[in-house]
Amino acid sequence: MDKITIIDFGGQYCHLIARRIRDLGVYSEILPSHTSYSKITSLQPKGIILSGGPSSVYEEGSPKLSKDTFKLIIENKIPVLGICYGFHLIIHNLGGKIAAKDKKEYGKTLLYIIEPNLIFNELNEKEIVWMSHGDQVISIPEGFEILAKTENCPIAAYGNQEKKIYGVQFHPEVTNTPKGNKILENFIFKVSKCKKEWKLKDWINRTIDEIRNEIGDKNRVILGLSGGVDSSVTAMLLHEAIGDRLHCIFVNNGLLRKNEELEVQRIFQVESQFKNFHYVNAEDIFLKKLKGVVDPEEKRKIIGHTFIEVFESKTIELEHEYPNIKFLAQGTIYPDRVETAATSNAAAKIKSHHNLTLPDDMMLEIIEPLKDLYKDEVRKIGNKLGLSEELINRHPFPGPGLAVRCVGEIKKQRLDILREADSILIQEIKRAGVYNDLWQAFCVLLPVKSVGIMGDYRTYENLCAIRAVESQDVMTANFAKLDWELLEKIGTRIINEVKGINRVVYDISNKPPSTIEYE
Ligand code: XMP
Repeated sequence: MDKITIIDFGGQYCHLIARRIRDLGVYSEILPSHTSYSKITSLQPKGIILSGGPSSVYEEGSPKLSKDTFKLIIENKIPVLGICYGFHLIIHNLGGKIAAKDKKEYGKTLLYIIEPNLIFNELNEKEIVWMSHGDQVISIPEGFEILAKTENCPIAAYGNQEKKIYGVQFHPEVTNTPKGNKILENFIFKVSKCKKEWKLKDWINRTIDEIRNEIGDKNRVILGLSGGVDSSVTAMLLHEAIGDRLHCIFVNNGLLRKNEELEVQRIFQVESQFKNFHYVNAEDIFLKKLKGVVDPEEKRKIIGHTFIEVFESKTIELEHEYPNIKFLAQGTIYPDRVETAATSNAAAKIKSHHNLTLPDDMMLEIIEPLKDLYKDEVRKIGNKLGLSEELINRHPFPGPGLAVRCVGEIKKQRLDILREADSILIQEIKRAGVYNDLWQAFCVLLPVKSVGIMGDYRTYENLCAIRAVESQDVMTANFAKLDWELLEKIGTRIINEVKGINRVVYDISNKPPSTIEYE
């Protein structure tokens, strides 16, 4: 299958480039900037895109491709497109000049196309593009021509048709560059000559065959099913491939949303007829271990370890009955595992997410059928495999569940209050038709009490915060500007219907500096 490789120089839009290209029907993947030429070419890319990045090519320690790698790519005439930082890097390597500008060019900018050459094929003479740069290209090496300019940037795009090297100062991957997709399309089809071969339907059939081959006719697979999109799609895919030789373990940790355990059982046991769906009610174990714990990291660690213990002991029990359990399936998706310069695991360090931790001493082979897919691709596959829209479009729910939304001590009674409030919020958000516009919406129970009045009585009850955010990439998020009347309705219903809450506040913090979850 034809591929485009993207080299990541720390740009926040790197994954967006990869997704755009896949949406255009060509498989794409991301490699870090220190990747060697032999690794890059072992994937046989038809073209290479050098991403943007926050650094300046002159800065010490700024990410670079090694000189040899760069030379070999050019010598072997692999088509290259540089975007922003990548645009500078090409020139820096080939002997042109870059300089810092006094004033940064940022935002929507008018681009004048000088040469309606290959990458600008079918564009108008003037197009809006999205700029975000401090440095700029001052001179280009011999053999290159200027393809476009803006008012403040005389070299906004260049090309060398013979060497198949192109570069743009702006970001074609963002929606603020309305014709950006056309530019990427020109690069992947006209310059790199890729064939459109990335189709999800073919992917499903091929993956089912691969799963069958890998697992064999007799072996069985175990999967931790949370009811989230990734593990649910993994389950459906494996069930399609090996039927009842798939064993799903669903752990109720007591930190789930209202009726969640019933809903997951209904979907998999009743609707999809999974014979080996194993429900483990571990609520008491989790709540006992969490008793008296208020520190967020401590909570996360306890939940992570306890999950492993419970999961492991159920697996051992099943292994006695089915000695041919040989594989452990995981719903890992592409962004979970790709090593990019942009995140450099910094996000992971902020909080200890427990989802990817595996029991160390489990002697099972790992199978991760979704490991090359983006979330929206996983959703489309779930849809094709018959999962409901409701499940597919569900907001993300953290592994430690309501524990990170129940600030302070975790007690069943506090969790029940939170569950009731949260279910009202979700009901109203769905009723208002805004659920799918939001990245997440949920309630948080705060360890604060305040005075209220209900009828003739004074109350002294809990404070509930509503968090609703919009986000594209989870790294940044803005609080949703929900309608006042909707908020009023939600607040009123929660206070009237949930015993234990007498005040509701709306969270107006953005990420950064705040995070989406509270703990
Ligand atoms: P924050 O709070 O870091 O959250 O802004 C970013 C996204 O990650 C989700 N989240 C988690 N997901 N296990 C998960 O699977 C976790 O431990 C976890 N903690 C946060 C959060 O809901 C948001 O979508």
